[in-house]
Amino acid sequence: MARRNQTLGEFIIENQKEFRYSTGELSKLINAIRLAAKVVNHEVNKAGLVDILGNAGETNVQGESQQKLDVLANEKFIQTLKNREIICGIASEEEDDFISINSQDENHQNKYVVLIDPLDGSSNIDVNVSVGTIFSVYRRITSVGTPVTLEDFLQTGRNQVAAGYIIYGTSTMLVYTTGHGVNGFTLNPAIGTFYLSHPNMRFPETGRIYSINEGNYVHFPQGVKNYIKYCQEEKGDRPYTSRYIGSLVSDFHRNMIKGGIYMYPKSSKATAGKLRLLYECNPMAFLAEQADGKASDGFVPILDIQPSELHQRVPFFCGSRQMVEKAESFMQEFGL
Ligand code: AHG
Ligand code: MN
Ligand code: MN
Repeated sequence: MARRNQTLGEFIIENQKEFRYSTGELSKLINAIRLAAKVVNHEVNKAGLVDILGNAGETNVQGESQQKLDVLANEKFIQTLKNREIICGIASEEEDDFISINSQDENHQNKYVVLIDPLDGSSNIDVNVSVGTIFSVYRRITSVGTPVTLEDFLQTGRNQVAAGYIIYGTSTMLVYTTGHGVNGFTLNPAIGTFYLSHPNMRFPETGRIYSINEGNYVHFPQGVKNYIKYCQEEKGDRPYTSRYIGSLVSDFHRNMIKGGIYMYPKSSKATAGKLRLLYECNPMAFLAEQADGKASDGFVPILDIQPSELHQRVPFFCGSRQMVEKAESFMQEFGL
């Protein structure tokens, strides 16, 4: 039973029995993500100080503190997961190809692969606005002791065993699911501990917030244009409020708490959309469904799409169930 103020460490141990194949491996993996989250949080929080600290001689020999934060976050996550020897492969937005972690070694029995967007919303870093990290976990399909293959990463979102995000906002939170609802933990930075602050998170069935980069309006499909006009129409509880941070993690987090819809449709400029199926849309879609929300490409559930490439893009509509269904009805009626 989730108890408010429980630490994430306690929560992981108590809930281990809920995992489908409980060997403790997934618990260790979540623990490693918890650790990496704290390391990246530390880096993100001093983003504005990089030059100042650098001048004060804080830069290490590799010049690490002056690296771009998305590269740094990528390194920290990969390093932490590698060092703990709990996964057999990792794919990242920042890496062209997936990385095998001792997967060909028959002594390594690790069966999980992880996909990450190490720093989401990275254009917000320079202006001190919330960013995040997104992660998605699968059991490998190929046998342990053999090299991981692309097939292990190109699974449909339905196969995810865990997914979540870290939001580096006014406070830092880790929000995740293992298929038994969604729970949110807030970091107490003074002692470096995450506490359960948001047990059993759920999207309100409907809401009054729509989040979309409206600057691209002229390039949107007719269905999206008409849905935006619907959101702006004066009728019943409309017009809705427009809120767009430009960081999927932050926009999703707000919409899950307050009720709303996030959209990144395809456009005449970006014909497949912008967001990546494997490490942005699938984990968010898993969280959304676990939180009573919905996620689709406008026509079919995101979690049912069979991926064909590691960095595949897909249109994304996600949020409160009734709002996503309304947007889908506009897509179906007015289409492309
Ligand atoms: P990333 O920083 O990982 O590249 O992702 C940014 C994504 C997403 O988080 C955000 O909602 C969207 O791109 C913003 O795109 P636009 O600037 O085109 O609106
Ligand atoms: Mn991203
Ligand atoms: Mn990113």
